Amino acid sequence: MAVSRTPFLAGNWKMNLDHLQAVAFVQKLHWSLRDAAHEDGSVEVGIFPPFTDLRSVQTLIDADRIPFSFGAQDVSEHDAGAYTGEVSAQFLAKLQVGYVIVGHSERRQYHNETDEVVGRKVQAALRHGVVPVICVGETAEDLEEHGASAVPAAQLVRALEDVAADADIVVAYEPVWAIGSGQAATPQQAQEVCAALRGVVAEALGPVTAERTRILYGGSVKAGNIAGFMREPDVDGALVGGASIVVDEFSAIVRYQKHVGV
Ligand code: 13P
Repeated sequence: MAVSRTPFLAGNWKMNLDHLQAVAFVQKLHWSLRDAAHEDGSVEVGIFPPFTDLRSVQTLIDADRIPFSFGAQDVSEHDAGAYTGEVSAQFLAKLQVGYVIVGHSERRQYHNETDEVVGRKVQAALRHGVVPVICVGETAEDLEEHGASAVPAAQLVRALEDVAADADIVVAYEPVWAIGSGQAATPQQAQEVCAALRGVVAEALGPVTAERTRILYGGSVKAGNIAGFMREPDVDGALVGGASIVVDEFSAIVRYQKHVGV
């Protein structure tokens, strides 16, 4: 019997919105969804603010019982020690941070994060019960040279080495050429790669975990194209960048089931 996976609409704020702006944003998004009679629980709404916002966001979500998940954008591979500037999964867990983005292409590109580093960060998150959102994706050159699935599949194989079969993970397929470019993949392209990635999860962690693991698409997702992705059987949500820090746009993305009549 097919397992139903709760759609996950996740906003990666990147380096945008300070903690005061974050509090205002979360309140406005909550009101926007309320005003639109959005049914809580029909999808999971996740926000990924900068580290300095996390405590404020956690306090607000907790106090007002706002039904959003929240996560960090990076984590140290170490638990504690002389690692100036790093933030441990242990600290995130203490803040009730549920998720952490690991291996985003901007970190691979600007911070030289290799597949090995990504693998160790995945382990660090899992050690402390924080669900890693493992990002993989090919560049335009990779696409031309190897096709769409080869590079993201190889990245995921490396990230899942030594991960327990029953681990809770989320995978995000983010073609580098689609990020911030306004040129999203087609739903068919996203489906093809997400299906291949589910195959990688099945191979590494077994079919049961593969069936329940959510695989997201990311790269120029907007209110106008989200529904097409969500119709695909192996696309279980989206990791949204630019459109996730615009209240009305992200609110419409979360409500994709309503406004396009899927
Ligand atoms: P954009 O939605 O701005 O293309 O960014 C996608 C992304 O990198 C999310 O992690």
